[in-house]
Amino acid sequence: MTARDLPAAPLDVAALRRDFPILDLKINGKPLIFLDNAASSQMPRQVMARWVKYRSEQHANIHRAVHYLSETATAEYEKARHKVQAFINAAESRECIFTSGTTDGINLVAHGYGRRFFGPGDEIILTTLEHHSNIVPWQMVAEEKGAKIRVVPVNDRGELLVDEYRRLFSAKTKFVALTHVSNALGTITPVREMIAIAHEHGVPVLVDGAQAAPHLKVDVQALDCDFYAFSGHKLCGPTGIGVLYGKAALLEKMQPFKGGGDMILSVTFEKTTYAPIPAKFEAGTPPIGEAITLGAAIDYLTGIGIERIAAHETDLLDYATDRFNRLKGVRLIGTAEKKAAVLSFAVEGVHPHDVGSLLNDDGVAIRTGHHCAQPVMQRFRVPATCRASFAFYNTTAEVDALVESIGRVQKLFA
Ligand code: ALA
Repeated sequence: MTARDLPAAPLDVAALRRDFPILDLKINGKPLIFLDNAASSQMPRQVMARWVKYRSEQHANIHRAVHYLSETATAEYEKARHKVQAFINAAESRECIFTSGTTDGINLVAHGYGRRFFGPGDEIILTTLEHHSNIVPWQMVAEEKGAKIRVVPVNDRGELLVDEYRRLFSAKTKFVALTHVSNALGTITPVREMIAIAHEHGVPVLVDGAQAAPHLKVDVQALDCDFYAFSGHKLCGPTGIGVLYGKAALLEKMQPFKGGGDMILSVTFEKTTYAPIPAKFEAGTPPIGEAITLGAAIDYLTGIGIERIAAHETDLLDYATDRFNRLKGVRLIGTAEKKAAVLSFAVEGVHPHDVGSLLNDDGVAIRTGHHCAQPVMQRFRVPATCRASFAFYNTTAEVDALVESIGRVQKLFA
C-alpha cells in the first residue's frame, strides 16, 4: 500500500505543532518554516522528556552488572527493541539490531554479508535512486572481492524501470540493495515487487528505509525483505541511533562487522566465539539512551498513526505539486506517480544554493545540493536541486510561504 491508497484522516496539526518547541523559532525575524525533514525531522517534547527521564533516573551501562540502574537500563533498552519489532512487524525482536543509523546498518550488511558471501565476478544490483550510503559500502566490498555493481535505470519521472531490473539478473547476481523512498526525488519504489523478483532468483534484498519509515507503514514480513535499515533522527528521535532488521537465518550466517565487548560468548587469544543475535552485532557500549528515546519516538508516531501521517503528507504533496506546477520558471525534478512528500525543484537561472540562502532570509529551511545522491543528479543532468521535504507538522500555509519566497527569489534575479 502506498501513501496515496490510504484513507484521508485529518490530523489536528495545530495541536501537534505545540509539541515541537523548535517550530516557534523566528529566523531572521520570520517564523521558521522547516521543510528539511528528509535530512532530519524535529523532536517533540514527549520524546525529549524520555531522554531526560533516562538520564535523570535510569542511566548505567547495560548487560554488565546486577545493580538496580544497570538492570533498569537493560530492561528499558530491550523494551525499545520490542517497540521497534512491533513498529516494523518483525517476527522476532532479535532480528532488530540497534545501529548508529541507516548508513551503519547498510555497512554492517555490506561487510558482514558481502565479505563472507561475495566472490570474483559476482554481481550486486543497486538502483539509480540510491543515496551514497547505499552505493559506497557495496563498492568497497565489490572492490575487495572482485564483484561488480549493476544499476537499475529510471525513467524521466524518476521511476525505476522494473523490466530493466528483471533483465539484470543472472547466475552471477548475489545481492540487491534498493531504496524504499528516494531521498532526492521522493519516488516510492515498487519494493515488494522487486523483492519478489529477486527471490525468484534466490537473491537476498536489503531495503534502505531511511526515507520510508517516517512516512509509510513498514511491514518487513509483508515486504519479505531480507534486511531493512532506517534511522532514528528522521523519525522524530535522536541522532546516533538506527535499526537494522535482518531475517534471523541470514543474520546468524553473517560475520560480525565490529568486534569488542558484549558481542562474544568467550574469548581466548586462540579463538573467540560470538554471542547470539542481536548481541553479535552490537559490539561495545551501545547508544542506550538514544535507543530508549527512539522507543518513545515510535510511541509518539504510532500514537498519531502512520497512516494518518501519510494521508496528511500526501495532501500536502498534492497541494504543493499543484502550486509548483502553476509557477513559471520552476521545474519539478522527480514526478513519479507514487511519491512521498518531497519536492525537488530547479528555479530557472538561479543556482540552488542561492535559492536556499534567499529562502533562509525568509525563515524557510530547505536543503540544496546533490542530496548525497550524485547519480540522480547525473541522470537528470543537474548539478544540484532545491529540495523541500515535508513532515506531518507542516501546513498548506507553509507551502504558500515557500511559493511566495520563491517568487521573491525570481523577482530578485529577473
Ligand atoms: N540523507 C539525508 C538527506 O537526504 C541526510 O538529506
